[in-house]
Amino acid sequence: MIPTTSKHNLSRLTRLVAAALIAASATTALAAGSIASGERWLDREGKFINAHGGGILYHEGVYYWYGEAKGDFTYRSPGVGWDCYRTDAGGVSCYTSTDLCHWTYRGIVLEPDTMHTFSDIHPTMVIERPKVIYNRSTGKFVMWMHIDNHNYEKAVAGVAVSDSPTGKFRFIESVRPNGQMSRDMTLFKDDDEQAYLVYSSEGNATLHIAQLSDDYQHVTARYERLFIGQSREAPALFKRQGKYYLITSGCTGWDPNEADLAVADHVMGPYTSLGNPCRGPHADKTFFAQSTHVLPVAGTADCFIAMFDRWNKRNLIDSRYVWLPIRFDAGAPTISWADVWQPPQAGASGHVAAVAPH
Ligand code: GAL
Repeated sequence: MIPTTSKHNLSRLTRLVAAALIAASATTALAAGSIASGERWLDREGKFINAHGGGILYHEGVYYWYGEAKGDFTYRSPGVGWDCYRTDAGGVSCYTSTDLCHWTYRGIVLEPDTMHTFSDIHPTMVIERPKVIYNRSTGKFVMWMHIDNHNYEKAVAGVAVSDSPTGKFRFIESVRPNGQMSRDMTLFKDDDEQAYLVYSSEGNATLHIAQLSDDYQHVTARYERLFIGQSREAPALFKRQGKYYLITSGCTGWDPNEADLAVADHVMGPYTSLGNPCRGPHADKTFFAQSTHVLPVAGTADCFIAMFDRWNKRNLIDSRYVWLPIRFDAGAPTISWADVWQPPQAGASGHVAAVAPH
């Protein structure tokens, strides 16, 4: 599943050339930072960023990146027939940044519960795809995540809250929304402060979107079924110029497949597929990655970053991040591969330009 170095010799070379060019020019581009998808990404302490299946909250001038803290040791779940690679659940990590390039580790903000064997967040469980939104009326930060057991049969959504974006988050409970299964998921907060949980349901065959309660801590009875029977997962939902866009992957476990981008006039759909938004080498396999979140860049009119995970199923902690700008030229939005590019900083507007050739 993961591209080998041999497959990528050419792109490695171009990356090296690009990096050398940037370094030689010693420009503000480097000072401002850049994003190199698929490379090892170090935090400010020089350690690999461990925040997989993540999402980003922008709050009061700071980006908070939450993700799965994978354990060092990847193993196959004993007694499970399919390709069930996993690590012990290490909780949810958090990193902060103001430029989206340099990240400071803030620790494990939702700790696994090592004391209670039957806890939903015991290390033997699965804690995936955490997302956090801020509730203006309660002043609480609310995290939802995919909770599962070692063979993914529990299929529930977990919720945790905190008074601070850097935790600690307190785990409240896990639920089957309206009695339905919930696996891969995301959160979306609309401009009117209503929030939604989007989750793969019905044995991953059908995606659901459910409105959350006003405090974001419960799922309401208002939900819709999307892509019925089409087995879509890894949802990432964003809004641009009054339209809602939903990126999903197909359903092939840790192995990559072709992404889809769908559009709707209303957040709960119906969504119409616009096809695969990815362009460039390996676009049919989503650049060997899988969607997790789309970040609207703060202070910009039209800049959105599509975030993906390039899973390394045999060494999950070494899964890489693929972050690429979404382009809104005429027609459907597209996501083109770029080895290295520079995200716009708050205040900029317009499209995002890649800083290096590919
Ligand atoms: C994928 C899913 C990942 C993880 C994996 C386990 O389909 O997107 O988040 O759950 O399956 O095999």
